Amino acid sequence: MNVSIVLGTRPEIIKMTPIVRQLEKKGLDFFILHTGQHYSYNMDKVFFEQLKLPQPKYNLEVGSGTHAEETGKMLVGVEGVLLMEKPDIMLVEGDTNTVLVGALAAVKVGVPVGHVEAGLRSFDRSMPEEVNRVVADHISHLLFAPTEKARENLLREGIGGEKVYVTGNTIVDAVYENLELAKKSGGNNALEGLGVGGDYFLVTVHRQENVDDPRRFKGILDGLNLVQEYFGLPVIYPIHPRSRRRMREYGLDAGGIVLIEPLDYLSFLLLESRARLVFTDSGGVQEEACILKVPCVTLRDNTERPETIEVGANTLAGAEPKKILEKAKLMIDRDRSWSNPFGDGKAAERIVDIVGEALPNLLNHTVY
Ligand code: UD1
Ligand code: UDP
Repeated sequence: MNVSIVLGTRPEIIKMTPIVRQLEKKGLDFFILHTGQHYSYNMDKVFFEQLKLPQPKYNLEVGSGTHAEETGKMLVGVEGVLLMEKPDIMLVEGDTNTVLVGALAAVKVGVPVGHVEAGLRSFDRSMPEEVNRVVADHISHLLFAPTEKARENLLREGIGGEKVYVTGNTIVDAVYENLELAKKSGGNNALEGLGVGGDYFLVTVHRQENVDDPRRFKGILDGLNLVQEYFGLPVIYPIHPRSRRRMREYGLDAGGIVLIEPLDYLSFLLLESRARLVFTDSGGVQEEACILKVPCVTLRDNTERPETIEVGANTLAGAEPKKILEKAKLMIDRDRSWSNPFGDGKAAERIVDIVGEALPNLLNHTVY
């Protein structure tokens, strides 16, 4: 079988890596199609180098733009590659514009689609990610739900249970594969460079609904400054390029927060694993903090990762400064004995096996 792996952003590269490893291990044919949605060295190539991924066979280099600009350019590019390569199946991961486009382009030309990390729902359609994941789920042929809850979301929307497989999330595979490496290597340099020998807080904030809204972004920065003052510990924020740009545009001040460039994966994992608390609006970081047993304060009003809250690893704080401090106080001494709800680190192996078993049937029944 020939598998087309479509990816375009930092989290997709990280979460697809375990699947690429399995395809390599089993000697199966595949190629990577990169949309170029992320393109800065520290949002893209650093992960290919560090995780030793094969180079993309195609890079559409669409770059940044409005939602229509990004998705429009990607659609044309992905379709062109699919018509040329005629892969047996396409795999997409997550909820970005790249995922929406990959799935849409593929079904229109008759290529079956497998959606990795299917069934997540924030139930907030004002988020671009929610729209992307709902559409991708409804047009995909194989849905790899990380948890039972995600499977239930899909069934509730009328998606046939025969297409849905609960596999765990490949982020667990990625963390298990890389944490020891991080401890041994690059990550230490990142810590030394920052001069934080002791306790600190780690932050990531980049979501459109937070950083494109000056009031919310300011509320978050103010809240993090309250946290820094109250606990007297450094707050380290590897800042996403979107957020850096918005801070400049809105004239926002980071105050006592330590802003650093986005980190490579091993450095980030190590910083994350040793943080007293993680503050984030990232999906992947909420999961990783839970896997690493680091309590998390989510700077959003909802989450499509409710499992993290149910096990006691995470709480929602929104964007109000006082609430952020209050939630930090609540989480800092949280008992860390929760169990990770995202699987056993073998999600990628399961996904590749399921693709192999399901494919003959899909090829026979594709009606496009
Ligand atoms: C995208 C995803 C979001 C995901 C995030 C992961 C969508 C709708 N959003 O958001 O779900 O959580 O990726 O990080 O797909 N930029 C650079 N260099 C880059 C990439 C982006 O400078 O390599 C800057 C540009 O100013 C760009 C802005 O970041 O305009 C936003 O990039 P974009 O890819 O549109 O969305 P993200 O915020 O990265
Ligand atoms: N990450 C990283 N360096 C950083 C910040 C995050 O390697 O400086 C990793 C993090 O470990 C996680 C992924 O990026 O695996 C999350 O991506 P992001 O927050 O950009 O997107 P989301 O998960 O919200 O879609």
